[in-house]
Amino acid sequence: MGSDSYALKSMTNKITYLDDGDVCILTKEKIEFYNSKNKKINKEILILSNDENIADKGDYKDFMSKEINEQKITTKICIKEYIDLLRQDINIYNFPIKPDEINKIILIGCGTAYHSCATAKYWFEEFTDLQIEIDMASEFRYRRINFNKKNLYIFVSQSGETADTFAALDLCKKNNVKTCSIINVVESTIARNSDFVLPIHAGPEIGVASTKAFLGQLLVLYILVLKISKLRKEISKENYIKKIKDLIELPNLITETLKCEDKIKIIAKDFVKAKGVMFLGRGLSFPISLEGALKLKELSYLHAEGYPAGEMKHGPLALIEEGLPVVILAPRDKYFEKTISNMQEVIARGAKVLLITNESKNIISENLRFTLEIPKADNFLTPFLLTIPLQLLAYHVASLKNCDIDKPRNLAKSVTVE
Ligand code: AGP
Repeated sequence: MGSDSYALKSMTNKITYLDDGDVCILTKEKIEFYNSKNKKINKEILILSNDENIADKGDYKDFMSKEINEQKITTKICIKEYIDLLRQDINIYNFPIKPDEINKIILIGCGTAYHSCATAKYWFEEFTDLQIEIDMASEFRYRRINFNKKNLYIFVSQSGETADTFAALDLCKKNNVKTCSIINVVESTIARNSDFVLPIHAGPEIGVASTKAFLGQLLVLYILVLKISKLRKEISKENYIKKIKDLIELPNLITETLKCEDKIKIIAKDFVKAKGVMFLGRGLSFPISLEGALKLKELSYLHAEGYPAGEMKHGPLALIEEGLPVVILAPRDKYFEKTISNMQEVIARGAKVLLITNESKNIISENLRFTLEIPKADNFLTPFLLTIPLQLLAYHVASLKNCDIDKPRNLAKSVTVE
């Protein structure tokens, strides 16, 4: 018995999923299943994919460092699964959504998966005229929802076993609305109960802190945005092909970004003794600031907060004091000048700023503690590249604090209880 299939893979490649109320009688000779009405039933036996490297850290010290570095490979695998390089098109086979069938999309997830939803909201708003809502599954499941047949409910989950996310999906199924899940474990409960599944192809993710699965969620969401935009004729053919070509370059950009690790190791020393850390960003960088804060919290047990840079003056600026580390995410997008001015505001109040940008020339840097430059890329791809130094920062601060990297205290890899 296990909370997800990875927990059992080292013992078997055959599993079945019990529904609420099911009973299983397992003896050496036979296996029997009964439902909640004590009626004998048959259950489908699934054969698990043989991820032979599941329990193997290879040359890495822990699974998290392996999974951070795998991102250059897992994104390439995922792109190959969805993008037809020859036809320069996106393949989503048997995609059940007709262009005029939906007029609103609701994106639902927990924790890091919710942050991928929050990022995708900006992409959907940029490339489609759809109404977009995002919600944390633990909130959605208790709301009085105005369900509508012309809505598409998308559930994002690495494990596919998160109780709150499944409960939210179950609520949608009971109200007969369209559901789709973006999943890493394709035999999971959430996948098997969705109308349509989009796998992220990230391979087994063992570290409790999600890294490669987050980038896989972002990637499939971005691919879905482009596909829906094309189906709805809301993106030009030229722009569609350009976005696909930019996307094909992403694994190389990730490889380049991963080279910042040596610099991050030095920067991390500044954070170990901090009493708290602020992560600030605007637009697409704002949900990434939330993800950076979550990574630091769950790995190093430091208090950290992601916040919209433009909102600081409405209260949180009071938190800024001499020596407080603040991470500013400022790629050269339409928010750049505004975010740099927010950076000057916190520096003026004594903050020690780490600026992460993709073009640092002409930035007044005498009061900046650190500047980290990530590769230049299409603005819509910066969430992928900004995430990597934040994953590495959390990893190295936690390492300096001798925290358990793969199994942080109080946390589980899949939260199957609410
Ligand atoms: C991620 O770093 C966290 N461990 C956690 O927030 C996780 O993303 C959340 O529990 C959702 O899990 P899921 O993707 O398996 O549904």
